[in-house]
This record gives sequence, structure tokens and C-alpha cells, in this order.
Amino acid sequence: MKGCMGKLRALLLLGSLAFVLSGCGRDNLTALVPKGYGADISLQLIILTTVVMLFVFLVVIVLFVIVLMRFRKKKGDPVINPEQVEGNKTLEAVWTIIPIILVVIMAVPTVFATFHLADDSDAEEHINIDITGNQYWWHYDYQNEEIATSQDLYIPVNTKVYLNMITNDVLHSFWVPSLSGKLDVNPENENTMYLEAYEEGVYFGKCAELCGPSHSLMDFKVVVVSEEEYDQWVADMQNFDSDALELDAVAQEGKELFEEKACLSCHATDTQNYSAGNVPLGPDLTQFGDRSKFAGFLEPTKENLVDWIQDPESLKPGNLMTGAYPELSDDEADKIAEYLLQLKPSEVTPESKGDITAQSEED
Ligand code: CUA
Repeated sequence: MKGCMGKLRALLLLGSLAFVLSGCGRDNLTALVPKGYGADISLQLIILTTVVMLFVFLVVIVLFVIVLMRFRKKKGDPVINPEQVEGNKTLEAVWTIIPIILVVIMAVPTVFATFHLADDSDAEEHINIDITGNQYWWHYDYQNEEIATSQDLYIPVNTKVYLNMITNDVLHSFWVPSLSGKLDVNPENENTMYLEAYEEGVYFGKCAELCGPSHSLMDFKVVVVSEEEYDQWVADMQNFDSDALELDAVAQEGKELFEEKACLSCHATDTQNYSAGNVPLGPDLTQFGDRSKFAGFLEPTKENLVDWIQDPESLKPGNLMTGAYPELSDDEADKIAEYLLQLKPSEVTPESKGDITAQSEED
């Protein structure tokens, strides 16, 4: 009976492990299915080190089993003191040199890859985006294109895009597993990395440095589009003027409230006031209606947005929006939500690129 329970427990453990790990393989959130150059190199290093470790594991296990079978004491064998190998120079040399060789096999490609990926000598020839980390959102400044946005980073496919990163507050870490390794974002020095995506689509990004109570909600996306779509998106963003929008009555009232209630002092809603290097106090909302998530993790429904506007603290603890504006009635929050959802500058959106965020939650 005891044995039965043990087996059952082992089975349960294996089953739940398989269940949990099956969530690790999402195509747009895994370093194991690389869709970008940096992630590709990382995967090659992962495979190399895994093979080396597997080799060590197998050799040790085989030797262990052989020794166990061949040299175990049989019935009637005399009790003997085995040969002592302490100070044996040959053995000492063997088990020092083999690990050194293995470490060299892993270290040389790793060091080369690290320097290769950190080489930004050709940065000026490519697209450069200045990224600023904030608790708990990302600001993107496309200085050459003179547009700024937040949370959804748009880049063209098969093109090197340099990201120059710094933080406005605490340490963050920029990580898009499918496209590249992670890079720390520091307050004092700019760190640079590049993305080069092979395939169009929407990829998940995560802040990978504990940065406060809502660290785990500091999600973002990288929207990889074709070259034409990228040009289209840039033009759409450049030309977007929220004052020229044709809004219905409710949204128009929302727009007025947005201005009255001081929302505008933190959030931009178009590129008309773009100034290079200026990081707003809150996320740029120019393409708010195009996003497939807001606040990093919420579905962009009006209900969620009203809840968020009225009480951001309960959804994302420690965010700077809490208490920064007067309390809003249900009606006021509803109108502002209506307005924000109509900020749709472009046809090129995460949804148009087959964002699978929504599906992933149904899995
Ligand atoms: Cu930013 Cu964790």
C-alpha cells in the first residue's frame, strides 16, 4: 500500500510538472523557438552547454553503474581495504584537465557571442530607438522619425534596430525572449542592444529585473512588421492629430474631460507636441486604441478601462498614476474611456499582425 502511494505521488508530481512546463513553449514567449538573431545565438549556446553537461552526466552515471556492478562485495568475498589513490598524479591531472577543457569549450563561444552581440559600431546606419524604463511601463522615442510611443514597440522585419536604454527610476531589464537576450536598464549609463527579427508577428516582452510591487505586470510587446507596414505606421503616427479626430458626442466630452482633469499633463495623445528626448510622466497614449493590452496586462475593454481610471492602485500597485488627478465619477471615467479607445492612428496594429495574446489566455 505504501509503495502504491509513493508511485501515485510520483505520478502526480510528474503530471503537474508536465502541465506547468507545457506553458513554457508559447511561440511568442520562448527563447527555445528563436525568431531573432540574438535569440538564435542564445539558443546555440544553450544547446552547446546542454550537450556538454549531458556528456558529463552520462559519463558519471555510466562509470557509477559499472563500478557498482563490477566491484560490489559478493557473498564470501574477504574484507579488503581498496587501493588508495590519494596523491596519484595521473588521476589528479585527468580530473583537473577534463573540466578545464569542458569549461573552455563553453566559455570561448560564449565570450565571442557576448562581444559580437554588444558590437554597436554600425548603429548609425540603422534605426535607433531610445527607450526609457519607468515604473511600470516603457517609453519609446524614435528620434529620427520624430515620434514617441509606449508599451508596443514597432520594428521592421529583417532589419537591425538599435535600442538605447536608460531608466527614469529604478533598475529594469528589457527582455523579449523570442528575439534576444535580456539587457539591464540602468539609471546612469545608456545600455545598447539590437533586435533583428526574422519573422513578422507580435512578441511578448517582460521586465526581467525586480523593480517594485508591479514588476511582474511590466509587460510590453514588440510588433514586427514588413518594411512597407513600418513606413506606413511611422507616417500614420507622424500625422496623427487628436484634435482633428471626428469623435462622437460621448468621446468628445471625454476628450474635454481628459484635458480638464489634468490627464494631459502626464499623457500625450498625438505627436503634435513631440520633442526629442522628452519622456512624459505617463505613457504616451497616441496609439492607445490600437493596443491589444493596456497597463501591461489588461484587456482593452471599456469596463477594464473605467476600473483602471478610477482605481489604478488596486490593479497595478505602486504606479504613479494613483492620486495624480482628481477623483472621477462613473460617468466621467466612462467618457474618458470612450475617448481613449478611439485613439487609433494606424491600420497597422498588433491585431493586424495576428497578436496571439488574446488566444494565450484561453489556452
Ligand atoms: Cu521593471 Cu521589473
